[in-house]
Amino acid sequence: MSHPALLPFDLEATTLPNRLAVAPMSRVSAEEDGTPTAEIADYYARYAQGGFGIVISEGVYTDEAYSQGYLNQPGITTDRHVKAWGKISDAVRQAGAQPVMQLMHAGALSQGNRYGHSTAGPSAVRPLRAMMDAYGGSGPWPVPKAMTPKDIEHVLAGFVASALAARAAGFAGVEVHAANGYLLDQFLTPYTNTRTDEFGGSVTNRARLTASVIAAIRDAIPDPGFWVGVRLSQGKVNDHGYRWEQGAEEAALIFATVSDATYLHIAGEGSGWEEGALLDNGETITALARRVTQKPVIANGNLADADLAARVIGEGHADLISLGRGALANPDYPAKLARGMEPTAFDPAMLSPKVTLANTATWNARKVAASTA
Ligand SMILES: Cc1cc2nc3c(=O)[nH]c(=O)nc-3n(C[C@H](O)[C@H](O)[C@H](O)COP(=O)(O)O)c2cc1C
Repeated sequence: MSHPALLPFDLEATTLPNRLAVAPMSRVSAEEDGTPTAEIADYYARYAQGGFGIVISEGVYTDEAYSQGYLNQPGITTDRHVKAWGKISDAVRQAGAQPVMQLMHAGALSQGNRYGHSTAGPSAVRPLRAMMDAYGGSGPWPVPKAMTPKDIEHVLAGFVASALAARAAGFAGVEVHAANGYLLDQFLTPYTNTRTDEFGGSVTNRARLTASVIAAIRDAIPDPGFWVGVRLSQGKVNDHGYRWEQGAEEAALIFATVSDATYLHIAGEGSGWEEGALLDNGETITALARRVTQKPVIANGNLADADLAARVIGEGHADLISLGRGALANPDYPAKLARGMEPTAFDPAMLSPKVTLANTATWNARKVAASTA
């Protein structure tokens, strides 16, 4: 019998060959002006060749004000970007997968902005902990400027323009990054959002910007065949252990507020699906998301283990699973799963000291040299 992750799945009008997605992974390897390179196209195409049904891009910045998170992050704000992303979507589609672009506004967690902007977020609260060396940052985060209503309009306009550009570049859809501590998650989180306007206070108010981004993209692109997914998480890159303060009750309100999305993707940042998934009502976060929204849900977090992946899908906790590090170590994971082969374990040195493609290429070269020595 086939592994449940290898069964086809209908995502709106598109039949996917399986339920396996590549999770978004920033590689800070674009040109200085944010254009993705031919090497990046090869990198994404490899996952499609390996059999993944969906290839989700790394977080791509959405405007030339405050959205950029890291130097050498790819953007989708210029014609040059659109052209280069077009080659990537072609390569991924030709190999049989659906390309999705993750749209990301870093907000207060920006550690590099080539347009010379400082940082901006919901409120002037210094983020916890420090910038991440592996992504080219160092030292404490600056205190962000509190966004004005005009700044928020600009954020929305950036997401809409980027979604239109992603569609023009041949992407099957976009994923709105509202996870891991970046701008939309800063709005969701009481300790980074002390606003007293319609974007602060209640859970519904804090989730309003994410819902507004989804609605604005849907208005601009009414075609139901174009996916508008959303990614959420409890943990953050600078606060792995964070959990929604009101547990399942808060989770249900957040999910209901973003339920216009095509799918929900729940990130397991910093911990596996198993550790982060169980809520205080005894339900898993992904099962709750499915129940509340009746939309497809993607589970994530250390799910390369075939038995665990089978359980997550087989027991109805999620419809699809995404692999980050498991996919890095096994770009051909679906092909391996189909043959009953054990996946290769992820080696952290692939992403250390930097998360760049160059770092992984050096790691690969060392491995090849060691095996032929
Ligand atoms: C190098 C690296 C970069 C990442 N960049 C992003 C990103 O751009 N957007 C995002 O939503 N998550 C990002 N993540 C989180 C992953 O998508 C995923 O949630 C996390 O790695 C846990 O899944 P895994 O156990 O399958 O790796 C990144 C993770 C890694 C390892």
